[in-house]
Amino acid sequence: MAVNLANGEALAWDSGSLDADTKAMLDNLQPNILQGHVREHMAVLFVHFGDGPEGRRFLRSLVPLMKSAREHLEEVRAFNKAKTPGKPYVGVGISKVGYLKLGHATTAFTDNAFKSGLKRRKDTLSDPPVSGWEKAYQGEIHAVVLIGDATEEPVAATRERVLALLPESADVLGEEKANGLRNAQGRGIEHFGYIDGRSQPLFLADQVAEESGTNWTPFFPLSHVLVSDPLAPAPARHFGSYLVFRKLEQNVRAFRQAEEHLADNLGLKGADRPLAGAMLVGRFRNGTPLRLHGRPSSDGHPVQNDFSYRDDPGSKCPVSAHIRKVNPRDTRDGGLERVLGVMMARRGQTYGTRTDVPWDDAPPETRPTGGVGLLFMAFNSSLQGQFEFTQQSWADNSGFPAEGAGLDPVIGQGRRDTKVTFPKAWGSDRTSPLQAEVPQTVTMKGGEYFFAPSLAFLRSL
Ligand code: HEM
Repeated sequence: MAVNLANGEALAWDSGSLDADTKAMLDNLQPNILQGHVREHMAVLFVHFGDGPEGRRFLRSLVPLMKSAREHLEEVRAFNKAKTPGKPYVGVGISKVGYLKLGHATTAFTDNAFKSGLKRRKDTLSDPPVSGWEKAYQGEIHAVVLIGDATEEPVAATRERVLALLPESADVLGEEKANGLRNAQGRGIEHFGYIDGRSQPLFLADQVAEESGTNWTPFFPLSHVLVSDPLAPAPARHFGSYLVFRKLEQNVRAFRQAEEHLADNLGLKGADRPLAGAMLVGRFRNGTPLRLHGRPSSDGHPVQNDFSYRDDPGSKCPVSAHIRKVNPRDTRDGGLERVLGVMMARRGQTYGTRTDVPWDDAPPETRPTGGVGLLFMAFNSSLQGQFEFTQQSWADNSGFPAEGAGLDPVIGQGRRDTKVTFPKAWGSDRTSPLQAEVPQTVTMKGGEYFFAPSLAFLRSL
């Protein structure tokens, strides 16, 4: 039976009754797509091939270092039972120009954004000119190799093994090093100090069982992240996913200043001041959603995710808040994100080191203005319909999800000329005087679109 990507039930990946095609799918799919792989430390290598056949041999030689989605899920289970550590994650993505260099026609790929490459989508995404991107990203990137693990040492050792396999005709155009940032409670945060990576589409039955909800259903069908791998030996059983990679630098000082400024403008005092930042993000630093609470609740664990905006016109969570712009959660037309299939699997990691304490209340002047940020990575079944739609039609659209929302205060790109309002107090229907939008504090430094092919394809090279 063909793999049913639209299945309305979460995939019971360990069920004895899985059909042969679904089993083959799991045995040939790369990890980190259906479920995030541990990647506290990461090395990300951007490769340019000088010679097609040598590039093919290199990619094929990486397969023994890789694991399948099924092996990864089994490793996670073993770890949860007995803390048995798994192998490092090695993931591969190939760009459109990469496929051409390897000698493959790309007509079989259906995603137009992928077929254009990120550089040619800069106007759609209001990205900075390519000449302003970091050098490595200005070049012709053919492939990305992602190496991740819980600790630094296995990443360093695996990176050496990968580099040793690289032919002389290939160049590493650039490399990123990512390391997880954690707050005092050990929870993963991003550089502005907020818990991140919490709200995700879930595809697997065991994950869905752990996060049931009455207001928000985290289950999404496999069709959100998987497409058949058109160049694999058996596309009906071999699947892959489109990967967007974007280096997003964060000006932490400017964001903290914007939070302070908004708190002053709203007249927030003492324990209420963190409300200002929460109004920009949609959650307090410890993950408490503004839709549910006007103050950070408990210690933020587990981070709450069972909410929608159905009964909140913006008096609790402003319509302009980052998480509301990028996931409107059922507010319109029976759930836009479901109807349109927009939700993607975010798998980013923070980069850059800090000498300050990212989650504390030290003044903005003590914060970095650059050199730190997010390596934004997400798996999609359609880059155009998911990542690009989210950035362009939601984050960069000042009329979404309601007139006067303005750009996404975290990731919005474009002209910030809307006058926005916030609730006067949490839950109040009275609104603040009109405010200028917060300045842009996240800058795109470069990136590329890739396809993460099946292991079967890589073996066939
Ligand atoms: C959620 C920060 C870039 C899409 C979040 C959360 C934070 C955050 C703190 C809340 C945690 C959670 O709900 O998982 C940031 C920062 C970014 C960034 C600092 C850049 C430096 C992006 C980009 C996109 C995006 C580029 C997509 C175009 C999302 C989505 C959610 C989210 C879909 C989940 C919303 C939900 O389901 O409620 N982000 N983000 N983010 N972000 Fe971002």
